[in-house]
Amino acid sequence: MSEIFSPPAAQLPTDKELVLKVIPMPADTNGNGDIFGGWVMAQVDLAGSVLPARYMQGRMATVAVNEFIFKQPVRVGDILSFFSSVTRVGRTSITVQVEVYAERFADQGRYVKVTEARLTYVAIDSEGRPRPVPPMPKAGG
Ligand SMILES: CC(C)(COP(=O)(O)OP(=O)(O)OC[C@H]1O[C@@H](n2cnc3c(N)ncnc32)[C@H](O)[C@@H]1OP(=O)(O)O)[C@@H](O)C(=O)NCCC(=O)NCCS
Repeated sequence: MSEIFSPPAAQLPTDKELVLKVIPMPADTNGNGDIFGGWVMAQVDLAGSVLPARYMQGRMATVAVNEFIFKQPVRVGDILSFFSSVTRVGRTSITVQVEVYAERFADQGRYVKVTEARLTYVAIDSEGRPRPVPPMPKAGG
């Protein structure tokens, strides 16, 4: 009898912010019955944009998926939690690290790291050209 491989439980990151939670549905599957990688990439792109949006205060675009690792398959009904942190603020761009953890459908409260990625977003003006990232307002000011 075949059993589904179950990696050790992961600790959730304490240095990253929870930016998205989502549950994949049967329409998001690939030919194996797991979740299609392109669907996961789209969610990571959305999740990754959350922290840069705070800085950019306007239009922005994804310029690069610098790294993307599918560590474990994602399955229908998993609760996915997306954690993100800013790793670089450049002149016109911001780079983030995103980690995705799954709580399996029938194993809630236990987290499996399924994906990690590094993406870069660029602030753009109304013509679609890069513009400087505005300075972050000081806390409390
Ligand atoms: C995003 C875009 C406006 C950037 O224009 P560009 O002329 O290539 O811009 P630049 O070469 O001046 O680079 C802009 C910034 O992106 C960074 N960048 C460019 N390529 C990069 C890469 N492969 N990895 C990381 N950062 C990169 C640059 O370092 C620069 O950042 P900095 O100013 O903080 O140093 C343009 O490439 C574009 O419109 N791309 C299509 C975007 C898109 O359709 N995305 C998908 C849907 S959102």
